[in-house]
Amino acid sequence: MRTNPIAAGINNASFSFTSKKDIKIIPSSKPSDLEKGVIRNLGINPSDTVIRKFANTETYVRINDDLRNKDVYLMPSSEQDVNEGIMEINLKADAAKRSGAKKVIAVLPNFPYARQERRSEAGEPVSARVVIDTMIASGVDEFITTDLHSSAIEGFAPSNHSFYHLSSLPLAIDYLNDKNLKDPVVVSPDEGGAKRAKKLADALGVKQATIQKTRIAHNSARALGLFGDVSGKDCIIYDDMIDTAGTISEASRLLKEKGANDIYILATHGLFNGNAYQKLENAPVKEVIVTNSVPLKPNAPVKIKQIDSSAQISGAILDISA
Ligand code: R5P
Repeated sequence: MRTNPIAAGINNASFSFTSKKDIKIIPSSKPSDLEKGVIRNLGINPSDTVIRKFANTETYVRINDDLRNKDVYLMPSSEQDVNEGIMEINLKADAAKRSGAKKVIAVLPNFPYARQERRSEAGEPVSARVVIDTMIASGVDEFITTDLHSSAIEGFAPSNHSFYHLSSLPLAIDYLNDKNLKDPVVVSPDEGGAKRAKKLADALGVKQATIQKTRIAHNSARALGLFGDVSGKDCIIYDDMIDTAGTISEASRLLKEKGANDIYILATHGLFNGNAYQKLENAPVKEVIVTNSVPLKPNAPVKIKQIDSSAQISGAILDISA
């Protein structure tokens, strides 16, 4: 893992390049606010790119720019099926390499298939590995990502295909420190996330608690019990992602039962699929803090707050190519 550029003091106002001319950004078919922010920070005009669909749903890509000996950055589209997004990255990587790119870097803040990084049952694939294999086979040399579900995923790529693995913790800590929380405690919503929660608890200098969670089915979680004391305390439930919001709804319900004061949710990736918004509206939660690694769907509840991570991603690009 390389140094976090945010921790190194880089912010939106301080980007300057000696080698800007050697960087190319291939825009996605529908740029997210994060992608727009990165492009703005770097002050680089994205390469003219045609992305279309054939009648049979195949994707067509053409990059109208001189990519010879350039570092080429690819970002996922904001409104896209996950599988289509992977294909778009693969086609752009292949096009860039065939056009003479020196290096192709896939910028995947929320790494696709990260939760399928191991076989839980016989007969399953290791899907995150398949994603990495196909991207590398298509020409991707390096990856920029944020808070991987499991850092073991980095090991799926050979050592000459590095991961620039960012942490959103510095951004979250700044945000939380401004809140003046009452006797806060960091809570992991499951035993698998306890190490992650410890990092945040240590950084804030507060205690930690852990919920015992079980999955009844895919996309359905149940909070069974709690290790630690939350009575009368403000709680920060810390997870890598919110998908259907089942995990955090259950966790917040249990914490309230155990006497918690205000409950905050902190997660890097806010996917909010299915009826997640509805669940959050009903959950005893004061604020849900996520980064903009995934664009918010329309009509997000006001309790969802987004932290912009474009400066971090821009810093990583600067670090790789400067
Ligand atoms: C699970 O291991 C993850 O860290 C998250 O807790 C999980 O993916 C959240 O999913 P959902 O919001 O659907 O419960």
